[in-house]
Amino acid sequence: MRRPIIAGNWKMYKTPSETVGFLHDLAPMVTAASRVEIVVCPPFVDIAAAVDAARGTAIGIGAQDLFWLKEGAYTGEVSAPMLVAAGCRWVIVGHSERRQYFGETDESVLKKTAAAVEAGLTPIVCVGERLEEREGGQTERVLARQCSGGVCGLTPEQFARIVIAYEPVWAIGTGRTATPEMAAQAHHFLREQIGIRFGDEAAQACRILYGGSVKPDNIKNLMEQDDLDGALVGGASLDPVSFAAIVNV
Ligand code: PGA
Repeated sequence: MRRPIIAGNWKMYKTPSETVGFLHDLAPMVTAASRVEIVVCPPFVDIAAAVDAARGTAIGIGAQDLFWLKEGAYTGEVSAPMLVAAGCRWVIVGHSERRQYFGETDESVLKKTAAAVEAGLTPIVCVGERLEEREGGQTERVLARQCSGGVCGLTPEQFARIVIAYEPVWAIGTGRTATPEMAAQAHHFLREQIGIRFGDEAAQACRILYGGSVKPDNIKNLMEQDDLDGALVGGASLDPVSFAAIVNV
Protein backbone atom coordinates (compact mmCIF):
# COMPACT_ATOMS: atom_id res chain seq x y z
CA MET A 1 0.00 0.00 0.00
CA ARG A 2 1.61 3.26 -1.12
CA ARG A 3 0.69 6.19 1.08
CA PRO A 4 -0.01 9.27 -1.05
CA ILE A 5 2.10 12.40 -0.72
CA ILE A 6 1.10 15.96 -1.52
CA ALA A 7 4.22 18.12 -1.58
CA GLY A 8 4.37 21.86 -2.15
CA ASN A 9 7.35 23.32 -3.98
CA TRP A 10 7.39 27.02 -3.21
CA LYS A 11 10.34 27.78 -5.50
CA MET A 12 11.66 31.31 -4.83
CA TYR A 13 8.60 32.64 -3.01
CA LYS A 14 7.83 33.72 0.56
CA THR A 15 9.82 35.19 3.46
CA PRO A 16 10.10 33.62 6.95
CA SER A 17 7.17 35.64 8.30
CA GLU A 18 5.01 34.75 5.29
CA THR A 19 5.96 31.11 5.87
CA VAL A 20 4.75 31.22 9.46
CA GLY A 21 1.47 32.84 8.40
CA PHE A 22 0.96 30.21 5.70
CA LEU A 23 1.52 27.26 8.03
CA HIS A 24 -0.72 28.68 10.73
CA ASP A 25 -3.47 29.01 8.11
CA LEU A 26 -2.83 25.61 6.52
CA ALA A 27 -2.57 23.42 9.64
CA PRO A 28 -6.21 23.57 10.77
CA MET A 29 -7.43 23.00 7.20
CA VAL A 30 -5.63 19.66 6.78
CA THR A 31 -6.20 17.94 10.13
CA ALA A 32 -8.64 15.44 8.59
CA ALA A 33 -6.20 14.31 5.88
CA SER A 34 -4.53 11.53 7.88
CA ARG A 35 -4.19 9.24 4.84
CA VAL A 36 -1.88 11.67 3.06
CA GLU A 37 1.68 12.75 3.82
CA ILE A 38 1.82 16.53 3.60
CA VAL A 39 5.10 18.22 2.73
CA VAL A 40 6.00 21.89 2.28
CA CYS A 41 9.33 22.83 0.65
CA PRO A 42 10.12 26.52 1.20
CA PRO A 43 13.35 28.36 0.27
CA PHE A 44 16.35 27.61 2.55
CA VAL A 45 15.99 30.83 4.56
CA ASP A 46 12.44 29.90 5.58
CA ILE A 47 13.19 26.38 6.79
CA ALA A 48 13.82 27.21 10.46
CA ALA A 49 10.60 29.24 10.67
CA ALA A 50 8.68 26.51 8.82
CA VAL A 51 9.92 23.73 11.11
CA ASP A 52 8.95 25.79 14.13
CA ALA A 53 5.50 26.66 12.78
CA ALA A 54 4.79 23.07 11.68
CA ARG A 55 5.73 21.52 15.04
CA GLY A 56 2.86 19.43 16.42
CA THR A 57 1.17 19.21 13.00
CA ALA A 58 1.33 16.44 10.39
CA ILE A 59 3.09 18.78 7.95
CA GLY A 60 6.66 17.77 7.07
CA ILE A 61 9.20 20.33 5.90
CA GLY A 62 11.59 19.83 3.00
CA ALA A 63 14.23 21.75 1.09
CA GLN A 64 14.34 22.36 -2.66
CA ASP A 65 17.93 21.31 -3.27
CA LEU A 66 21.13 20.25 -1.49
CA PHE A 67 24.81 19.66 -2.19
CA TRP A 68 26.18 16.11 -1.98
CA LEU A 69 29.18 16.73 0.30
CA LYS A 70 28.78 17.09 4.05
CA GLU A 71 30.78 20.30 4.49
CA GLY A 72 33.64 22.22 2.95
CA ALA A 73 34.62 25.27 0.94
CA TYR A 74 31.54 25.35 -1.32
CA THR A 75 30.20 28.89 -1.12
CA GLY A 76 26.45 29.08 -1.27
CA GLU A 77 25.80 25.37 -0.84
CA VAL A 78 23.82 23.53 1.86
CA SER A 79 24.43 19.88 2.81
CA ALA A 80 22.08 17.04 3.71
CA PRO A 81 23.21 16.85 7.37
CA MET A 82 22.61 20.61 7.66
CA LEU A 83 19.06 20.17 6.38
CA VAL A 84 18.47 17.35 8.86
CA ALA A 85 19.85 19.48 11.69
CA ALA A 86 17.49 22.29 10.65
CA GLY A 87 14.52 19.92 10.95
CA CYS A 88 13.94 18.91 7.32
CA ARG A 89 12.75 15.42 6.51
CA TRP A 90 12.43 15.82 2.75
CA VAL A 91 14.35 17.36 -0.13
CA ILE A 92 13.52 17.90 -3.79
CA VAL A 93 16.33 16.77 -6.10
CA GLY A 94 16.82 17.40 -9.81
CA HIS A 95 13.87 19.71 -10.38
CA SER A 96 13.70 20.66 -14.07
CA GLU A 97 14.32 24.32 -13.19
CA ARG A 98 17.60 23.27 -11.58
CA ARG A 99 18.44 21.16 -14.62
CA GLN A 100 17.53 24.03 -16.98
CA TYR A 101 19.00 27.06 -15.18
CA PHE A 102 21.65 25.69 -12.83
CA GLY A 103 23.38 22.94 -14.76
CA GLU A 104 21.95 19.99 -12.85
CA THR A 105 22.72 16.70 -14.62
CA ASP A 106 21.64 13.08 -14.12
CA GLU A 107 25.03 12.54 -12.50
CA SER A 108 24.64 15.36 -9.95
CA VAL A 109 21.06 14.22 -9.31
CA LEU A 110 22.37 10.75 -8.44
CA LYS A 111 25.03 12.12 -6.06
CA LYS A 112 22.55 14.42 -4.35
CA THR A 113 19.95 11.67 -4.03
CA ALA A 114 22.44 9.27 -2.44
CA ALA A 115 23.65 12.00 -0.06
CA ALA A 116 20.10 12.81 0.97
CA VAL A 117 19.27 9.17 1.69
CA GLU A 118 22.49 8.63 3.63
CA ALA A 119 21.62 11.60 5.86
CA GLY A 120 18.12 10.24 6.52
CA LEU A 121 16.17 12.61 4.27
CA THR A 122 13.56 11.41 1.81
CA PRO A 123 14.52 12.79 -1.60
CA ILE A 124 11.79 13.59 -4.12
CA VAL A 125 13.68 12.99 -7.35
CA CYS A 126 12.27 14.77 -10.40
CA VAL A 127 12.27 13.48 -13.96
CA GLY A 128 10.34 14.62 -17.01
CA GLU A 129 10.58 15.46 -20.68
CA ARG A 130 10.61 18.88 -22.38
CA LEU A 131 7.98 19.95 -24.89
CA GLU A 132 10.11 19.28 -27.96
CA GLU A 133 10.97 15.86 -26.60
CA ARG A 134 7.31 14.97 -26.12
CA GLU A 135 6.40 16.32 -29.54
CA GLY A 136 9.28 14.40 -31.08
CA GLY A 137 8.03 11.14 -29.56
CA GLN A 138 11.05 11.02 -27.24
CA THR A 139 9.26 10.95 -23.87
CA GLU A 140 10.09 7.35 -22.99
CA ARG A 141 13.66 7.65 -24.21
CA VAL A 142 14.20 10.72 -22.03
CA LEU A 143 12.63 9.10 -18.96
CA ALA A 144 14.67 5.94 -19.47
CA ARG A 145 17.85 8.01 -19.76
CA GLN A 146 17.05 10.05 -16.65
CA CYS A 147 16.38 6.85 -14.74
CA SER A 148 19.44 4.94 -15.93
CA GLY A 149 21.77 7.92 -15.39
CA GLY A 150 20.06 8.87 -12.13
CA VAL A 151 18.12 6.75 -9.64
CA CYS A 152 19.12 3.41 -11.20
CA GLY A 153 22.63 4.12 -9.93
CA LEU A 154 21.44 3.86 -6.33
CA THR A 155 21.77 0.67 -4.31
CA PRO A 156 18.49 -1.21 -3.74
CA GLU A 157 18.61 -0.10 -0.08
CA GLN A 158 19.00 3.54 -1.09
CA PHE A 159 16.32 3.23 -3.76
CA ALA A 160 13.79 1.92 -1.22
CA ARG A 161 13.95 5.29 0.52
CA ILE A 162 13.27 7.67 -2.33
CA VAL A 163 10.19 9.15 -3.97
CA ILE A 164 10.06 9.95 -7.69
CA ALA A 165 8.20 12.88 -9.22
CA TYR A 166 7.23 12.77 -12.88
CA GLU A 167 7.07 16.37 -14.03
CA PRO A 168 6.67 16.97 -17.75
CA VAL A 169 8.56 20.25 -18.19
CA TRP A 170 5.94 21.64 -20.57
CA ALA A 171 3.30 21.33 -17.85
CA ILE A 172 5.22 23.22 -15.16
CA GLY A 173 3.85 26.66 -14.44
CA THR A 174 2.09 26.74 -17.79
CA GLY A 175 -1.45 25.85 -16.75
CA ARG A 176 -1.16 22.99 -19.24
CA THR A 177 -1.52 19.78 -17.21
CA ALA A 178 -0.78 16.39 -18.67
CA THR A 179 -4.03 14.52 -19.15
CA PRO A 180 -4.57 11.83 -16.52
CA GLU A 181 -3.94 9.26 -19.28
CA MET A 182 -0.62 10.84 -20.28
CA ALA A 183 0.48 10.94 -16.66
CA ALA A 184 -0.62 7.36 -16.09
CA GLN A 185 1.32 6.20 -19.14
CA ALA A 186 4.51 7.91 -18.00
CA HIS A 187 4.13 6.63 -14.44
CA HIS A 188 3.58 3.11 -15.72
CA PHE A 189 6.68 3.39 -17.91
CA LEU A 190 8.76 4.67 -14.99
CA ARG A 191 7.59 1.80 -12.83
CA GLU A 192 8.65 -0.62 -15.57
CA GLN A 193 12.11 0.94 -15.76
CA ILE A 194 12.46 0.71 -11.99
CA GLY A 195 11.31 -2.90 -12.12
CA ILE A 196 14.00 -3.79 -14.65
CA ARG A 197 16.69 -2.43 -12.35
CA PHE A 198 15.36 -3.11 -8.83
CA GLY A 199 12.74 -5.83 -9.32
CA ASP A 200 8.99 -5.82 -9.33
CA GLU A 201 8.51 -5.55 -5.59
CA ALA A 202 10.64 -2.39 -5.35
CA ALA A 203 8.84 -0.94 -8.36
CA GLN A 204 5.44 -1.56 -6.82
CA ALA A 205 6.52 -0.06 -3.50
CA CYS A 206 7.98 3.15 -4.99
CA ARG A 207 5.81 6.23 -4.78
CA ILE A 208 5.66 8.25 -7.98
CA LEU A 209 4.17 11.75 -7.77
CA TYR A 210 2.89 13.80 -10.67
CA GLY A 211 3.86 17.46 -11.01
CA GLY A 212 2.94 20.19 -13.49
CA SER A 213 0.07 22.66 -13.07
CA VAL A 214 -1.70 20.57 -10.41
CA LYS A 215 -4.69 22.54 -9.13
CA PRO A 216 -7.68 21.84 -6.86
CA ASP A 217 -9.84 21.24 -9.94
CA ASN A 218 -7.62 18.66 -11.68
CA ILE A 219 -6.14 16.71 -8.76
CA LYS A 220 -9.08 14.34 -8.43
CA ASN A 221 -8.85 12.99 -11.98
CA LEU A 222 -5.10 12.64 -11.67
CA MET A 223 -5.29 10.80 -8.36
CA GLU A 224 -7.73 8.29 -9.83
CA GLN A 225 -4.89 6.86 -11.95
CA ASP A 226 -3.49 3.62 -10.52
CA ASP A 227 0.18 4.40 -10.79
CA LEU A 228 -0.09 7.93 -9.42
CA ASP A 229 0.76 8.34 -5.74
CA GLY A 230 0.34 12.04 -5.14
CA ALA A 231 1.52 15.37 -6.46
CA LEU A 232 4.35 17.86 -6.40
CA VAL A 233 2.58 21.20 -6.52
CA GLY A 234 4.17 24.52 -7.46
CA GLY A 235 1.97 27.57 -7.98
CA ALA A 236 -1.10 26.16 -6.23
CA SER A 237 0.93 25.37 -3.10
CA LEU A 238 1.55 29.06 -2.39
CA ASP A 239 -1.98 29.69 -1.21
CA PRO A 240 -3.06 27.73 1.90
CA VAL A 241 -6.65 27.43 0.69
CA SER A 242 -5.77 25.91 -2.67
CA PHE A 243 -3.01 23.71 -1.19
CA ALA A 244 -5.42 22.43 1.48
CA ALA A 245 -8.02 21.72 -1.21
CA ILE A 246 -5.47 19.57 -3.06
CA VAL A 247 -4.45 17.76 0.14
CA ASN A 248 -8.08 17.08 1.07
CA VAL A 249 -8.93 15.44 -2.25
P1 PGA B 1 3.49 24.11 -11.03
O1 PGA B 1 4.96 23.62 -10.63
O2 PGA B 1 2.53 23.34 -10.16
O3 PGA B 1 3.47 25.57 -10.76
O4 PGA B 1 3.31 23.78 -12.47
C1 PGA B 1 5.23 22.28 -10.32
C2 PGA B 1 6.69 22.12 -9.99
O5 PGA B 1 7.52 22.82 -10.57
O6 PGA B 1 7.06 21.29 -9.14
